[in-house]
Amino acid sequence: MSRTPHALIFPLPMQGPVNCMLKLAELLCISGISVTVLNTDHIYHTLLRHTNVLTRFSRYTNFRFLTISDGLPDDHPRSGERIREVFEGMKRVTEPVFREMMVSGCFSAESDSPVTIVIPDGVFSFVVGVAEEVKVPLMFYDTVSPCAIWTYLFLPKLIEAGEVPFNGNDLDAMIKNVPGTESFLRRRDLPSFYRLDDLDNPVTEIILTEARCVPRAQGLILNTFQALDEPVLVHIRTLCPNIYCIGPIHSLYKSRLNNEPEPTIQTPQSNVSNSLWEENVTCLSWLDTQVTRSVIYVSIGSMATMTVDQFFEFWHGLVNSGKPFLWVQRPGSVSGSYDDDQVPKHLVDETKQRGFIMTWVPQESVLAHSAIGGFLTHSGWNSTIESIMEGVPMICWPQNVDQQVNSRFVSEVWKIGIDIKDTCNRVIVEKAVRDVLDVRRSEFTESTRRLAELGDQSVAENGSSVMDLNRLIRTISSL
Ligand code: UDX
Repeated sequence: MSRTPHALIFPLPMQGPVNCMLKLAELLCISGISVTVLNTDHIYHTLLRHTNVLTRFSRYTNFRFLTISDGLPDDHPRSGERIREVFEGMKRVTEPVFREMMVSGCFSAESDSPVTIVIPDGVFSFVVGVAEEVKVPLMFYDTVSPCAIWTYLFLPKLIEAGEVPFNGNDLDAMIKNVPGTESFLRRRDLPSFYRLDDLDNPVTEIILTEARCVPRAQGLILNTFQALDEPVLVHIRTLCPNIYCIGPIHSLYKSRLNNEPEPTIQTPQSNVSNSLWEENVTCLSWLDTQVTRSVIYVSIGSMATMTVDQFFEFWHGLVNSGKPFLWVQRPGSVSGSYDDDQVPKHLVDETKQRGFIMTWVPQESVLAHSAIGGFLTHSGWNSTIESIMEGVPMICWPQNVDQQVNSRFVSEVWKIGIDIKDTCNRVIVEKAVRDVLDVRRSEFTESTRRLAELGDQSVAENGSSVMDLNRLIRTISSL
């Protein structure tokens, strides 16, 4: 008996993954596949508060949102240093509830609409066992960068070879056991949680489990395009042969929806937001008043934080560069507090003249604005790939997860920016801003333009990402 294709998409409850997964969900809906997106209650209610997701998705009769508890109280911050508690809560509460839903609940073979494929975030290793138990195919959608996934998959090898934990404090020592990266990857470029003294900790356990479980899935979906990551993909395919590169998902999404024959599905970009904070669009009018390629955009994404000292170093560096800046200061992104009378008057005065500070902005539109000349970023994968597509060079100040690896690829492999990891000093920030906007501008303009063109080709008709999305849709439809 043939069953209606029904994909269950299960994002990690964080901004980047939720954004990528909702875009994939919509692309699958358009192709006629039934889709359920399973968010944590917290993510779902935050989305309802700040976006029009319900209205946007209500036009698809083959779509539904469901929710699951993350095991944490409503007022838990779910960010910064307490992010680990999200994983603990999910292990304790979400995992057993999810299993129940799959085995005998609303996703089971006995339910009204059985799930025919599960697409969880790559970090949800526990889903492998559940999917095998109920005999439902699974494909991981790993929303972090392929270059970082490659280092995850090789963590067992790094441990076996004695490269992790590091022997000694030299973070500039080269890494020898991640094939293909021997000439440029240093210890400091590995994910920050590799900087550990012993292996007995929950984060190492999560990565080791992921390294074991990702190859057990029927497929691996990645938010990249082949021309960008082929040197890494060649290696990942040796462990996970069935890869779908459907990135940059935000560009593929835009091009698919703009070309939809059905006018009700076409969506102006200004109406598409999956933000977990209220987007303030007034920054776009401010950018309209600025000179082409003159503004540095500053954001450290949805989870990274900085200390008060680091905050002041950035502020001084930006002001001292003499360049206009648009700075996202997400609530909670500065850990600690300071008195207003600690702030030098010239910082305040010059920020009034040249700066624009917001709590959250429509980043894709900001990066696409002609006034933006550079991006001082934490090197989250979504920020990186969004910047690549708009041809905006980056200054990378990575904090955790995949960001340390991404920033090394930005500076040494793609050569589209400057990596200032492990420093935070006003002189370095000032110099980096001037380098990107003035001194090395033509060098970066050329390299970023070249990559953006390749990205555009990948999402154009017959482009590699379009072909991979079509292949994914065919596979899911035939299960
Ligand atoms: C982090 C990791 O660094 C990332 O690589 C991993 O995949 C998930 O965890 P995050 O801090 O959310 O992610 O950064 P990033 O991946 O860059 O995603 C941030 C998203 O928020 C981007 O899509 C960006 O466009 C959006 N954003 C950011 C806004 O819409 N407005 C803002 O003001 C800032």
